[in-house]
Amino acid sequence: MAMDTVRVGIIGAGWMGVVHAQGWQSNAPRGEVAAVADVSEDRARHIADRFASGRAKIYPDLDVLLADPSIDAVDICLPHHLHTEAILKAAAAKKAILCEKPLCLSLEDAARIRSALAETGVIFQAAHNQLFQPSLIEARRLLEEGVLGRIFVIRSIEAGQNRGFKTGRAPVEMGQGESSWSWRSDPRKSGGGEVLDTGWHGTYRLLALANDRPVEVTAMAGRYFVEQIDAEDTGFLLVRFASGMIGEIATSWAFSFASGWQFEVAGEHGSLAGNARRLVHQLAGWSQPAERTNEPVVTYTREITHFIDVLLRGEPVAASVDQAIRVLQLIKGAYRSVEEHRAVSLPEDPTRL
Ligand SMILES: NC(=O)c1ccc[n+]([C@@H]2O[C@H](COP(=O)([O-])OP(=O)(O)OC[C@H]3O[C@@H](n4cnc5c(N)ncnc54)[C@H](O)[C@@H]3O)[C@@H](O)[C@H]2O)c1
Repeated sequence: MAMDTVRVGIIGAGWMGVVHAQGWQSNAPRGEVAAVADVSEDRARHIADRFASGRAKIYPDLDVLLADPSIDAVDICLPHHLHTEAILKAAAAKKAILCEKPLCLSLEDAARIRSALAETGVIFQAAHNQLFQPSLIEARRLLEEGVLGRIFVIRSIEAGQNRGFKTGRAPVEMGQGESSWSWRSDPRKSGGGEVLDTGWHGTYRLLALANDRPVEVTAMAGRYFVEQIDAEDTGFLLVRFASGMIGEIATSWAFSFASGWQFEVAGEHGSLAGNARRLVHQLAGWSQPAERTNEPVVTYTREITHFIDVLLRGEPVAASVDQAIRVLQLIKGAYRSVEEHRAVSLPEDPTRL
């Protein structure tokens, strides 16, 4: 794209709309919130006033925003059931796309999205913000260099007690509108429970560390804390990779673990573990682990920086549609495993199960 600034339209001005708008503002002047669309005008205006000095255009829906030729890209922050339509329409309108997780709710929709992106050539990035965590970036570099040798086991953890459902309050200050928890309580809109929602992060993190194809998943799920949803609030997934390596995803809205690790990897020469502030690795024979610490970063801002680099500098996308589809396949496989009490094979084509 021959331009210096990506003019983005944010679609969905709720919790993530606000967080992403902050991220775009932090990326000025390379990024600018030029328009906001939401069924709640109050919410759209709140973002325009707070993160675009009142200059962003306010639109009542996605169609009018997509018809605006001054918009280069869209940032989709809508409830889950609206992702597919928004992506397909944005691709038809030739707008570059950053889309919140989950990509969509079915593998059939994933296949339609993949075809539409291939046909239109539109750039797509999944909003896999935690890929930009410094400890994860460094861990992936160490694994790529073979520091741990052959990897045997990878654990990815995404667990925290979700009290939002109890209070019904919106997670951050934002304009008037439907609560972020209300559509999540409706399975037709959320498409699942915690595993599809927050577990999405644990899943793409596992796949990023593994750098291998998952071939089988076995899962258990339960509901322990969140009474307001008719779905699981906790899931444990065991994943077999093509190389024989084992992956585990522990994900929950019911609790967090005292250790605070987001990932642990163990292999031939040693092991490592990381979270938002620390990465430790210990090789066989070392008396102490090596440790790196970092200031916490706003991963949402970094994912937007990356999206801008993709658009302005032609950098390769760190979270492609194919990677997002693989995440969906694994999660769908996990739900089938829970339902049928068995291990589920994951075909090579990620749009099939
Ligand atoms: N990456 C993360 O850490 C993270 C965290 C929270 C949410 N999310 C994701 O962000 C997305 C949005 O979640 P949220 O928590 O911000 O939800 P939210 O309910 O706070 O925001 C959704 C917004 O969409 C608006 N909306 C609904 N229907 C619309 C329509 N037809 N047209 C235009 N606007 C419409 C609502 O009014 C609301 O303002 C979801 O995909 C969710 O999974 C990601």
